[in-house]
Amino acid sequence: MKIIVTGGAGFIGGNFVHYMVNKYPDYKIICLDALTYAGNVETLEPVMNKENFMFVKGDIADRKAVYSLFETEKPDVIVNFAAESHVDRSIENPEIFLRTNVIGTSVLLDACRKYGIKRYHQVSTDEVYGDLPLDRTDLFFTEETPIHTSSPYSASKASADLLVQAYGRTYKLPVTISRCSNNYGPYHFPEKLIPLVIANVLNDKTVPVYGKGENVRDWLYVEDHCAAIDLIIHNGKAGEVYNIGGHNERTNLQVVKTIINALGKSEDLITYVTDRPGHDMRYAIDPTKIKNELGWEPATTFDEGIKKTIKWYLDNKKWWENIISGEYQKYYEKMYSKR
Ligand code: NAD
Ligand code: TYD
Repeated sequence: MKIIVTGGAGFIGGNFVHYMVNKYPDYKIICLDALTYAGNVETLEPVMNKENFMFVKGDIADRKAVYSLFETEKPDVIVNFAAESHVDRSIENPEIFLRTNVIGTSVLLDACRKYGIKRYHQVSTDEVYGDLPLDRTDLFFTEETPIHTSSPYSASKASADLLVQAYGRTYKLPVTISRCSNNYGPYHFPEKLIPLVIANVLNDKTVPVYGKGENVRDWLYVEDHCAAIDLIIHNGKAGEVYNIGGHNERTNLQVVKTIINALGKSEDLITYVTDRPGHDMRYAIDPTKIKNELGWEPATTFDEGIKKTIKWYLDNKKWWENIISGEYQKYYEKMYSKR
């Protein structure tokens, strides 16, 4: 089996590449990644010299490059992680989100039509469902929840999902989509809440909390997401959507305080800053379908996962310090200096 993993130099794609390369020595795993600010070849260092792994630098929206890769490699499966993924950046500049997340997806789908494929899997997000009210803890996102997006990021991901479903129906492409809740774990880019808080606390920098910090996210340890996608590409039914999440809801303030306390620092580091425009209140997944149909359940609770994650950031300072000292520094200044 030959699998092209797009966006494999990013956070979840990188974890998925490690997972698949180690679990399936007989498969060939090809990572296609444009190495944007969020892509980091250092994430792929542990697998770079493995025989069943190949890295290709390329843009999913570059039709010529994508077709040429399909022509030479003749992949069986595509797992599309490649995306612009940060909501705050999408609010600053939506255009690149449309190019990569929508046009890029359409180019991959066209390549699948042209060259044939056993499975195209789209890695999507629960953010396509919009948000849930804080005072209705009985409500969860199911696969039947209507699409109702809030940010340019989620709108671009929802557009891509609709295209994937259209190609499934119109051209009979064997497609699947997974919609996962917020991930955390190793190799998470330090612009997202959890790694940003860990890095700031370790550097005794203030921790920016948007609004009152009462927004709720449903946190999933990244390896559990990888295991779910592995199950879907092997046993999932073409044409289906699977929600992925594990009932690990926390307010942002709870998450921030857990990290500060685990690192033995003062909660005085918390600084409340201007809220994100259009900020989604609560995400919460109902994972009944993937549990019943594919037997998937998360293996890691938030309390275990956050300890493992903090340890990883302590043991791998070089990985994130290299990022913070580079281009990302300019973004941080722009986003937070006058907030
Ligand atoms: P990330 O930003 O860490 O990584 C994205 C990767 O895609 C990077 O390696 C980047 O270089 C690459 N990329 C960007 N544009 C590209 C292009 N045009 N061509 C080729 N490669 C390109 O993102 P992530 O957090 O790992 O998210 C991966 C996927 O999972 C995304 O599709 C995202 O929407 C989805 N998702 C993320 C979460 C989460 O909590 N992070 C939750 C649910 C779903
Ligand atoms: P983020 O990690 O950007 O993921 P998403 O917006 O996709 O859920 O943010 C998680 C939550 O944390 C979200 O409610 C916004 C909030 N947040 C902060 O309070 N401060 C920050 O500096 C960041 C980056 C996020």
